[in-house]
Amino acid sequence: MTHPYAASSLAGKIAVVTGAAQGIGEATARLFLERGAAGVVLVDVQAEKLAAVAASLTAAGHKAIAVPTDLADAAAVAKVMPAADATFGRVDILANVAGLTERGGILDSDVAFFDKMFAINVRAPFFLMQDAIALMQREKADGTIVNILSVNAHVGAPNLAPYSASKGALLTLTKNTANAVNWMRIRVNGVLLGWVDTPGEHETLKRFHGAKDGWLDAAEKSRPFGKLLKPEDVARQIAYLASDESAPMTGAVLDYEQTVFGGYGGPPAAISGAVRAGGFGALAAPSTGCAGPAPPLAAEDCG
Ligand SMILES: NC(=O)c1ccc[n+]([C@@H]2O[C@H](COP(=O)([O-])OP(=O)(O)OC[C@H]3O[C@@H](n4cnc5c(N)ncnc54)[C@H](O)[C@@H]3O)[C@@H](O)[C@H]2O)c1
Repeated sequence: MTHPYAASSLAGKIAVVTGAAQGIGEATARLFLERGAAGVVLVDVQAEKLAAVAASLTAAGHKAIAVPTDLADAAAVAKVMPAADATFGRVDILANVAGLTERGGILDSDVAFFDKMFAINVRAPFFLMQDAIALMQREKADGTIVNILSVNAHVGAPNLAPYSASKGALLTLTKNTANAVNWMRIRVNGVLLGWVDTPGEHETLKRFHGAKDGWLDAAEKSRPFGKLLKPEDVARQIAYLASDESAPMTGAVLDYEQTVFGGYGGPPAAISGAVRAGGFGALAAPSTGCAGPAPPLAAEDCG
């Protein structure tokens, strides 16, 4: 017998996904449909790419519409849910994935940049939630909303001041909204993302950090699990939070990263002695055949 919550079923649901032209948003829309969603509304400022994603989904037999939208434009944001309603007559899921990740610090950010950051990362999700909740209420849907946050909401790097503040604001908004709508049986949760290998991240690293082709390989070698998070990894967390599998959880924000924020540590060299002294038996056994400054904690960690 199949477990009722197996694979976060989204059978029959209609979902609105922002940032759907590429990366995490696109992977999320695709996974939603794979898990049974009856239709997706794809929202992004990159109109051509968005149309291509919609066309490929439609060609695969799914129901998908593209609603090209600049989330910095409040009037355009107000048209998203009416477009979803006109095509599908309901909305069950909203995934606020799109975000502006441009760099700027406390000393060098101007008013226009600050306002743009908050318009896209906070104001747009705010009003999309407002409009989605109205539709969910009208249809008496057990709706779910998932907001994509960032581990930068905890503090953030100095060159990410408006960005970190915007994600911190969205974190509070996630909890505040969850607290406002739980008696309507609408759930609102968030994911604080760590480092994800997305087209947006490639562009940001090249534009602001002078990264060269091949940066990803070096970056992945520096991570505890030997990879950056992938859009498909994030999509699974969003699908979980959007589905009944996570019910009745609401107002929760999940740190989704391979390092622990606020924790001290480092590469295996920094801890291998402690592990040996602690007598963790097999875990402490030196392994063979692995490159690196120190043995990994377990042989399975080797490639
Ligand atoms: N990549 C990471 O390491 C990382 C880390 C933490 C959080 N995040 C968050 O993940 C989300 C995805 O971002 P990503 O940079 O990884 O990029 P991505 O490549 O997954 O795509 C982001 C999408 O958002 C769209 N978008 C940006 N501004 C928009 C606007 N004004 N109107 C409509 N659409 C707009 C882009 O066109 C793009 O398609 C963002 O919310 C970001 O803050 C990413």
